[in-house]
Amino acid sequence: MTIPTTVQLGKSAIAPIGVGTWAWGDSFFWTYGKEYGEAQLVDAFNSSVDAGITMFDTAEIYGLGESERILGRLVKTRNEKIYIATKYMPVPWRVSAKQVSDAVDASFSRLGVEFVDLYQIHQPFSFLMGQPTLLKTLAREVEAGRIGALGVSNYSESQMREAHGTLASLGIPLAVNQMQYSLLYRKIESNGVLAAARELGVTILAYSPIAQGLLTGKYTANGPAVVTGARKMDARFKPEGLQKIQPILTTLKEIGEKHDRTCAQVALNWLIAQPGVIPIPGAKTADQAAQNAGAIGWSLNDEEIAEIDRVSRASL
Ligand SMILES: NC(=O)c1ccc[n+]([C@@H]2O[C@H](COP(=O)([O-])OP(=O)(O)OC[C@H]3O[C@@H](n4cnc5c(N)ncnc54)[C@H](OP(=O)(O)O)[C@@H]3O)[C@@H](O)[C@H]2O)c1
Repeated sequence: MTIPTTVQLGKSAIAPIGVGTWAWGDSFFWTYGKEYGEAQLVDAFNSSVDAGITMFDTAEIYGLGESERILGRLVKTRNEKIYIATKYMPVPWRVSAKQVSDAVDASFSRLGVEFVDLYQIHQPFSFLMGQPTLLKTLAREVEAGRIGALGVSNYSESQMREAHGTLASLGIPLAVNQMQYSLLYRKIESNGVLAAARELGVTILAYSPIAQGLLTGKYTANGPAVVTGARKMDARFKPEGLQKIQPILTTLKEIGEKHDRTCAQVALNWLIAQPGVIPIPGAKTADQAAQNAGAIGWSLNDEEIAEIDRVSRASL
């Protein structure tokens, strides 16, 4: 299986991997301002762009707008075309089309842009404003040339089909459904989302693709890495959870050694080898960004893909 050098996302061709920026400016779940700060993020951004990775995923709620502000500052420091994907959060007090367009304006203002390549609905919540109003308003933003492509996130198969149908009736494609997908979390393979996305031509943007660091192999019961932030509460990061994933980590390590690649790079390459899937690993440092960028430019063979698949299923 040879992974592609570029993939189409909305109106642009990009590398088959992006960068997630939830941790940029966020001190609720992550530890921005303590273990890392903007200086590290500047390096992570430059390291990604230097490696040809130019798609960055943010959201209006990340760091309460700080992620968009940081990304906006960084985008202006480079001449390369940066592909910006951001997200709208449906909240109960947003009830009108105007409030949707105001949210787009507010994201643009934080990012310092007048156009984003991809605008996604973060969650399938409807509250008082139904999906049709939300989707029609965003479709008008596409027609107005403010948004390149539309996406959704965390939509079930039926919710995705409905959104796809509403947009299709307006002549606008549904470009992505951003879903959790990794070797440790494979629900989209069994709940119909992945198959339906392929049928409809919707790209899966795979979030938490290295399971928030677990698939790097650096978190074990004896270190070396220390779990920080909200992950301390997560059972997967406790000794029993870490023990359970040893078989898949061993397989990633063994296969990685043959290609001179790390566990994270093998886990990401496996995802990229799944048709219609683009992973967006989060990176907070230049090293992490460079390592994640090294998930492309080489390929696992079919036997390795099958072996990783088999061991991963047994670890779930
Ligand atoms: N749509 C949604 O609902 C949703 C939900 C979650 C995430 N997302 C998106 O998906 C992106 C990625 O997901 P995620 O941040 O949850 O999980 P992830 O990408 O699986 O893990 C990211 C974390 O792993 C560690 N890491 C990354 N690369 C590494 C490397 N090469 N070596 C060692 N450690 C490394 C870093 O944390 P440490 O250094 O602290 O270990 C980093 O913050 C987010 O930034 C966001 O854009 C979307």
